[in-house]
Amino acid sequence: MSVTVVVGGFFGDEGKGKIVSHLVNDESYNYKIVARGGVGPNAGHTVVIKDMIYKLRMVPSGFAGKNIEKLLIGPGVLVDPQVLLNEIQITKTMGKIFCDYQCGIINKKHIEKDQTNSHLKDQVGTSGSGTGPANEDRVRRILPLARDVPELRGILTDVPLELHKALIEKKSILIEGTQATHLSLWHGTYPHVTSKDVTASAICSDVGIGPTSVTDVVLVFKTFVTRVGSIRAEKMENQLTEDETIKRGWIEYGTVTGRLRRAAPFNIPLAKRSIFLNGATKLALTKLDVVFPQDSGKKVFEDLSSLAKDWIIEKERHLGMQFSWIGTGPADSEIITRK
Ligand code: GTP
Ligand code: IMP
Ligand code: MG
Repeated sequence: MSVTVVVGGFFGDEGKGKIVSHLVNDESYNYKIVARGGVGPNAGHTVVIKDMIYKLRMVPSGFAGKNIEKLLIGPGVLVDPQVLLNEIQITKTMGKIFCDYQCGIINKKHIEKDQTNSHLKDQVGTSGSGTGPANEDRVRRILPLARDVPELRGILTDVPLELHKALIEKKSILIEGTQATHLSLWHGTYPHVTSKDVTASAICSDVGIGPTSVTDVVLVFKTFVTRVGSIRAEKMENQLTEDETIKRGWIEYGTVTGRLRRAAPFNIPLAKRSIFLNGATKLALTKLDVVFPQDSGKKVFEDLSSLAKDWIIEKERHLGMQFSWIGTGPADSEIITRK
């Protein structure tokens, strides 16, 4: 039985959605429950299953796991009811998905403030999804909770209690984080950060599971670093020009906002700091195929080009840990597993 927390190691968009959607179908873990922590619908996870592409902001990325019995959204996560109900339809997860009575609720006023307030819009460069203003209201203890919303009545539960029961029944649990370590309100590049902590400890608290129950913390990195928003933020170390980003084929656009993501090469000091901030026990790497196109779709480490292998081994030497999963394409099956 395992309790695994999956979190991001850089500035978000590392491909946590893909790693989670792969893990939930790994028979050796046999996960039965997926619980979503993190801030709220500011996240944009992309899940590619066969020829279907799902862009999810609220439904957990592990929704398509064959043996998954329940998908839970913890009380620390902000819910936008419209976004959630719409995604439940798209993913056909009604009956399986539940959110906690105490999830905070985002309304139009929060979204409007997030999109018009010049500090949030221009200085921080937020996703505009209303999460920061909603968390402000939560801190002031005036935010409505899911238990106050009639449309959500059929999908409410006590998430910490559900997880507690699952632990007693020895069911494996996967806990999904969103955003990433260097966007944390405590540990990130303040003020260009999100509205709460998003490291592994915070994600556990979001869903109501104690740290002693966790068996693994999987930290997800990408072969290069990207950052969306905060155009006035300090440049990332070794940030590439837009032309150079395009030339290298590292160009990406935000899942939620459609904004161009700024890019830089893999950053070892940032990665090392993420490892200790999260207490990582395992690492995952995504988008190897973007930096090494000749290795696209490969599933066996030994089959990789020597260039890619050398790149990986050099990073592992610096980090003192091995990448247990290496993504070689967007689909959940395009992955190398080294346990
Ligand atoms: P946040 O919660 O918003 O931080 O998102 P995320 O970490 O789930 O990542 P997101 O889905 O926003 O961005 C990752 C993108 O990379 C998606 O388009 C994925 O389909 C894609 N992707 C993930 N892994 C790989 C990979 O190994 N190779 C390639 N080519 N694409 C990948
Ligand atoms: P907010 O979380 O919408 O308040 O945005 C604060 C900062 O975090 C901005 O720079 C956003 O672009 C960034 N951010 C928030 N969520 C994500 C995400 O899921 N991926 C990447 N960046 C994000
Ligand atoms: Mg994203």
